[in-house]
Amino acid sequence: MASRLIEGSKLASEIKEGVKRKSSRLSFKPGLATVIVGSNPASKMYVSMKQKACVEAGFYFENFELPKNVSEGDLISLIGKLNVNGRIHGILLQLPLPKHINNEKVMESISPGKDVDGFHPLNMGRLMAGDESFAAATPKGIIRMLEEYKVKLEGKNVVVVNHSTVVGKPLALMLLNRNATVSVCHKYTKNLKEYTLKADVLITAVGVPKLVKSDMVKPGVVVVDAGISKSGDKTVGDVDFEGVSKKASLITPVPGGVGPMTIASLLENTLMAAERNKS
Ligand code: GUN
Repeated sequence: MASRLIEGSKLASEIKEGVKRKSSRLSFKPGLATVIVGSNPASKMYVSMKQKACVEAGFYFENFELPKNVSEGDLISLIGKLNVNGRIHGILLQLPLPKHINNEKVMESISPGKDVDGFHPLNMGRLMAGDESFAAATPKGIIRMLEEYKVKLEGKNVVVVNHSTVVGKPLALMLLNRNATVSVCHKYTKNLKEYTLKADVLITAVGVPKLVKSDMVKPGVVVVDAGISKSGDKTVGDVDFEGVSKKASLITPVPGGVGPMTIASLLENTLMAAERNKS
């Protein structure tokens, strides 16, 4: 079976255009603040992509770069100032953080109404209860893509390979909210293939090139690849695209699949935070 591509870039452009249109009708600019601790090159690249998208959508944007040895107290104090800054409607603390900083404690210091990443425990709890107002950007983008391509989730076996707070856990909740039967696999899972072979929908976000090979999936599977790594100078996902795309019914490319959808979802969350803040 020749698979059809899930064109994340195209859908993301449409979403971003919609956000820009809605944003231009407001009497103020939605504002996003990003905070980076340390100088992780990947984090810097992700933040500059978010900045570019914000500027294109007509948003106000500020980036704060703190040294990697910044104290937890100083970081929380910056977040406290952003929480009460009227120009800022969304706060995104780029992960990962250095080891001496307690992620949960810092995430809890972000005002839940400005938590456009959806990592505050209140928003995570809301997600568990079925309220997806502030859902994390990558899972939100993945669900949006599946909806756009009319992939039914109810009663389907969906296998997620990632159990992080950023992707796997919120995604599993969103899939459960849609009555899928969800298996969450990760690096401690024994015999991954046993799970992937049962998947009607397979979603990976691991960063291991060619982790998923064609003998690990069944014909007709829908594959969403949120992995990103470098192979020479090429950006690749977790899926052996060449082999798996011959068996899948739908598959995302890397790049041009999940990545742009994550950014589009972040813009949507920021716009919503801004609208709620003013109403
Ligand atoms: N690091 C990798 N992905 C993300 C994300 O979606 N949000 C934040 N804040 N950090 C990340």
